[in-house]
Amino acid sequence: MAEVVIVRDPAEGGEIAAELIARLVAAKPDAVLGLATGSTPLPIWKALAARNGTAAHSLDLGRVRGFALDEYIGLPPGHPESYRSVITREVVEPLGMNPALVRVPGDDGGPTEGAGERYERDIAAAGGVDLQVLGIGRTGHIGFNEPGSSLVSRTRVKTLTEQTRADNARFFDSPEQVPRHCLTQGLGTILDARHLLLLAFGEAKASAIAGAVEGPVSSSLPGSAIQLHPFVTVIVDSPAAAKLAYADYYRFAWDNRLDFER
Ligand code: F6R
Repeated sequence: MAEVVIVRDPAEGGEIAAELIARLVAAKPDAVLGLATGSTPLPIWKALAARNGTAAHSLDLGRVRGFALDEYIGLPPGHPESYRSVITREVVEPLGMNPALVRVPGDDGGPTEGAGERYERDIAAAGGVDLQVLGIGRTGHIGFNEPGSSLVSRTRVKTLTEQTRADNARFFDSPEQVPRHCLTQGLGTILDARHLLLLAFGEAKASAIAGAVEGPVSSSLPGSAIQLHPFVTVIVDSPAAAKLAYADYYRFAWDNRLDFER
């Protein structure tokens, strides 16, 4: 079962996630991180940036490698909302990562056809993802694996749902500008990561979180694939946890974790 941590607010969630990442990097300075974009992980990047190079933390992410979950298809190179631009702006630069070590699907200059297979090979050549940061969409997607995605899918082209396009329209000047297609790591790709770290904040995510953590495992709610993974940490605030049947138990388990689990 996933470890579910119910936090006061996104800032506390970001601190806990940042601590997990900092411990990983302390043990393995060239760790491979799987990177999600969107609003949800922003408190993690903020908490990590605050630790970067401070006397108290001396966190150095300069050798960390990164693989983004997904990328839009069809945006002109350098578009500010391409996930390459977003990752550079929100993750690579503030955290002092080496841009040459951070990849986004389809960034190898090759054709879109076959880009998924090539990305898979590159992840494998890096030794696989140590820790995969995930958000979840209102459709239950992780990465851009929309409902109906195979539980064993690999990196490939997907068509975004109209719901997801509408949700992401806030990043663009008009809803029409949101691309219809993307390259995304598959559910099988995500499940290959050694540790999954799924975050969600706000009541709009409550149904998706309940389905992902406690619902039946189903391609109708792709986030439920996390139940097939042995090492998952879910960090949610109370509004996102509102539909979890076992919320009291998750709080009890977190409050009573053993010393070596802290
Ligand atoms: C982004 C991604 C998506 C988002 C999800 C939630 O790289 O893979 O699954 O995590 O759409 O987006 P936010 O965090 O903006 O609510």
